[in-house]
Amino acid sequence: MVTLGVNVDHIATLRQARGGREPDPVHAAVLAELAGARGITAHLREDRRHIQDRDVYILKQTVTTHLNLEMAPTSEMMKIALDVLPYMVTIVPERREERTTEEGYPVQEKERELTEAIATLRENHILVSLFVNPVIRDVRSAAKIGATHIELYTGTYAKAASERGQTAAEEQLETLKGAAMAANRLNLRINAGHGLNYLNVTPVANIDNMEELNIGHSIIARASLVGIDSAVREMVALI
Ligand code: PXP
Repeated sequence: MVTLGVNVDHIATLRQARGGREPDPVHAAVLAELAGARGITAHLREDRRHIQDRDVYILKQTVTTHLNLEMAPTSEMMKIALDVLPYMVTIVPERREERTTEEGYPVQEKERELTEAIATLRENHILVSLFVNPVIRDVRSAAKIGATHIELYTGTYAKAASERGQTAAEEQLETLKGAAMAANRLNLRINAGHGLNYLNVTPVANIDNMEELNIGHSIIARASLVGIDSAVREMVALI
């Protein structure tokens, strides 16, 4: 069964807009789990634009499904990950000027710097997922350097679906399926995310061997109007 991981970053974005305590991503995580989320994701960015260190530490104590910590593989973030010991770390590229993560990690180019980080995390019993573009060379590299999972970047598919029509979306879907097939052959477990919403999620959920979809913006946007419970339940039903 494909499961839903809810990314609570944008609850923190709203809190940071006023610099106070509300709304709390920890509360959002509880409600998301009660509505059927099977994982909670938080991205601790170097610039701390949304999730703060305190959120990650409290989520580790309160999440009852599993906590997926998204981070760049910097020495600062590695230290925090080894202190918090989340269920999973998803390694993402990070650029200060970007609005959100805009592509997968260039795994093949960065094999050497990732190998040690992955080994250290795994020695500490943390599952390691690499956020990758759906390209075979990066999938192969992810397996070679010891990742347990990949998270396929679905942003290009989502953009094609919303801006370029069905044929373009289907082409991107085929690319995702090809990458998933390669990953499965290499015994990598498969997650996916970025830009997934209520209109485009189902074909991605139907990709063979898909395990978990990590979704943030569309769910939190809908939650701001109808509440987290409905927003999560609707997404779980679609998946
Ligand atoms: N997966 C990863 C690795 C991400 O960086 C993000 C965005 O923070 C998401 C999933 C969720 O993307 P969205 O907010 O577009 O659903």
